Amino acid sequence: MDDKLMLMIPGPTPVPEQVLRALAKHPIGHRSGDFSQIIAEVTEGLKWLHQTQNDVLILTASGTGAMEAGIINFLSPGDRVLVGNNGKFGERWGKICEVYGLNVQQITAEWGKPLDPEAFRAALEADTAKEIKAVIITHSETSTGVLNDLETINRSVKAHGALILVDAVTSLGATNVPIDAWGLDVVASGSQKGFMLPPGMGFVSVSPKAWEAYATAKMPRFYLDLGKYRKEAAKNSHPFTPPVNMFYGLQVSLAMMKKEGLENIFARHHRHMNATRAAMQALNLPLFAAEQASSPAITAVAPVNVDSEQIRSVMKKQFDIILAGGQDHLKGKIFRVGHLGFVSDRDILTAVSALEATLQALNYEFTSGAGVAAAAQVLRPAS
Ligand SMILES: Cc1ncc(COP(=O)(O)O)c(C=O)c1O
Repeated sequence: MDDKLMLMIPGPTPVPEQVLRALAKHPIGHRSGDFSQIIAEVTEGLKWLHQTQNDVLILTASGTGAMEAGIINFLSPGDRVLVGNNGKFGERWGKICEVYGLNVQQITAEWGKPLDPEAFRAALEADTAKEIKAVIITHSETSTGVLNDLETINRSVKAHGALILVDAVTSLGATNVPIDAWGLDVVASGSQKGFMLPPGMGFVSVSPKAWEAYATAKMPRFYLDLGKYRKEAAKNSHPFTPPVNMFYGLQVSLAMMKKEGLENIFARHHRHMNATRAAMQALNLPLFAAEQASSPAITAVAPVNVDSEQIRSVMKKQFDIILAGGQDHLKGKIFRVGHLGFVSDRDILTAVSALEATLQALNYEFTSGAGVAAAAQVLRPAS
């Protein structure tokens, strides 16, 4: 049915009505005093969301643009970097690094498994000459639903002294990423995820230590030269024409997030992850990521006796619910349920009950109602 689409993918995520209304306002001049005030307000809000006093810069880019900005502003060709790769987005970090001529050492893990913090500790301890300039990690690996142990890996990075660059595209606003408490140097994210906005804005937070590296970094850069953004941000301005209407939306989404509170936002995402996982287990649908390493943004499921693409097809055709498929070699092998951003308990129950109806239509054997009951049990308010 038209206008009934329900996105249960890990981005773009659903956008609240009040954000959509804000986006529909007339643009104003980006050099006006009114717009400066908006920049000041959203920058303060972004720092709150990022739990940092560092600069948080706003780019007209998707998450990959924010990642690329992280590479080209703080490193020089030939620099040695350690890249974590256990999925599509870790792989992407590696590709960006290679394009820019970095000397890449990858630490890999099988897709569906978390990166091993011990491997990072060993590689960093072995680097007594301190040649490794940066460690580059995907926090929530969206392609597999795995949450890497950023906190532990980062401890080894801190002991070594390299910069840490983080893709927090599907962890920021879903789980705790305390940038200042952990000392994360560069953190990249994008608007179409936990921010409850459409695609179009990228965000990069930059620590003082990263700015020191910026002073000597020698990659070519122009549009994504973060020094320009920093200079203008200090005057509540922007170096280029920013996506003005997205700023209106960001004002509203940040206000909504502040009202809910960071702890409550994280708790909601964890509750939805737990409810989704419990439902899948009750339906005998194997989970792709282990419990200790599961992402609060997305649950990947690897069905055995039923085709995941057929599940996605029926969910879309009959219920207007969009689930994500597997990427690369996981295509056809897994489906992924996004529970990131503007997602409520009702959405989870709706998706699980539609999934049960879908499984029934596909003649999959399961105990009818078991998934809904398991999810409802997790979602039950504490009495
Ligand atoms: C973990 C992660 N990193 C990077 C990206 C890339 O972001 P974009 O498609 O906005 O460039 C995504 C997008 O899904 C992601 O989930």
